[in-house]
Amino acid sequence: MKNLLISLVLAMTFTNSAAQSLRPNYHYTPPNNWVNDPNGLVFLDGEYHLFYQYNPFGDKWGHMSWGHAVSKDLQKWETLPLALPEIQNLDGSTTMIFSGCVVVDSFNTSGFFAKGFKKGLVAIFTSHVSKPGQDLAQHQSLAYSSDKGRTWKYFDKNPVLDIGLTNFRDPNVIWFPSENKWIMSVVKPLEYIVQFYSSKDLKKWTFMSEFGKQGDTTKIWECPSLVRVPVENTNLSKWVLMLSSGHRQAGYLAMQYFVGDFDGKNFKSQKQNDVYYLDEGKDFYAAIPFYNLPKTQKNPIIIGWTNDWEYANDIPANDGYRGGFSVARKLALYNSGSGFKLKQQPIINSKIKTETLTLSKKYVLNSKFGEKTQNSYRLNLEIDLNTSQGFDLKMLKYDNQYLLLSYDISSNLLTLDRTKSGKVDFNKRFSSIESVKVSPKNNKLYLDILVDKSVVEVYVNSGEKVLTELVFPEKLETSEVFNFK
Ligand code: FRU
Repeated sequence: MKNLLISLVLAMTFTNSAAQSLRPNYHYTPPNNWVNDPNGLVFLDGEYHLFYQYNPFGDKWGHMSWGHAVSKDLQKWETLPLALPEIQNLDGSTTMIFSGCVVVDSFNTSGFFAKGFKKGLVAIFTSHVSKPGQDLAQHQSLAYSSDKGRTWKYFDKNPVLDIGLTNFRDPNVIWFPSENKWIMSVVKPLEYIVQFYSSKDLKKWTFMSEFGKQGDTTKIWECPSLVRVPVENTNLSKWVLMLSSGHRQAGYLAMQYFVGDFDGKNFKSQKQNDVYYLDEGKDFYAAIPFYNLPKTQKNPIIIGWTNDWEYANDIPANDGYRGGFSVARKLALYNSGSGFKLKQQPIINSKIKTETLTLSKKYVLNSKFGEKTQNSYRLNLEIDLNTSQGFDLKMLKYDNQYLLLSYDISSNLLTLDRTKSGKVDFNKRFSSIESVKVSPKNNKLYLDILVDKSVVEVYVNSGEKVLTELVFPEKLETSEVFNFK
């Protein structure tokens, strides 16, 4: 046999229909119904909060409200009751609670809390007002909580920022200590513009500057956030502006980012013409950073929504929910030689079934696989490409179904092909192939692959590139097949 063939057989049994569930084990999904963007990611008193766009009444987008989950370790999440429900207005219109953030108002700048209370949470979100068939307004509003996000009150003088547009949304607020002020990033989606506002009390906002009309403008801009990111192996850090917009492949959605400087007023990007995508897969959108991480945690941590508006409402929802979230990811910058770029590391529990393999044409492997993984595991591969032309890795393989990750050394293209990955025909845009250029390091490619039933995250070369994709395999009895070219 010309090529070394390694079959890693994951022997599995499934005894009941629950075992057939496609619900991920270590990625958070809501117990039921529809979710989209993560909202209000905040750390307080040993607890990480994940609020999210949620429809309490169904498994398609609608009645947007904020759902809520908490975690002590970013791994195991507990779902809490609905945090911010949609509002029925007296004039017959409704106010949906669109995306936004939560800050800890430890100096009680807002005046919402008792004197000296340091743990007040303020949610800053887009209030989307509509009547059936008619969008009336989008403006920014507040809610506050004195009990660690368990109960909330809407501010009685909402909205706090209204510029008369029906598309103006997704506020993300940070504290700017040197000037004792809050700074909001918010988008005018149809114009590809991020605006920056400042405030002393979260209630009165003053326009400062805007940034935009560059990078990827193939789709509207949503969910901006401004965050300071350390440059690895240095004492430096730079400002990064992340936002959600178009994908490298026409029509799909993705996230892009700009690395640059921010002086408390204006953001300037290091490069004008290059487009940097945060994730190269089809299913990573609307990610925002956690607010108020412990001081020892210098690197921002983000979570994204694992879906794509291109087909989001059509993905299978057999388990009663539709949509979910990525694992938490730590961000760092590295010097790429042509500017600073982001790398991402998954924050992952060591208890997850993990296989670490060094693959080289010279070795014959004694695979340790064989335990029951039920399509939920982590695969850590160091692939020595010294004497090969590349590789094919078939994951979640059953008969002729598999998710194919392949690499070709002559083009340096890493390709993720889900066209044969199981259920793909629920929307004609779902079946698709992704390709991204990555170079081996000393002839080696490093892959850290998170497979979790219906979501796969591939971290390449310490997270310099990431591909996140949904898959809907029709069996849990699958195997992995690796093959050098
Ligand atoms: C992004 C988005 C946001 C909006 C929310 C509504 O996915 O469109 O711009 O606030 O979803 O659910």
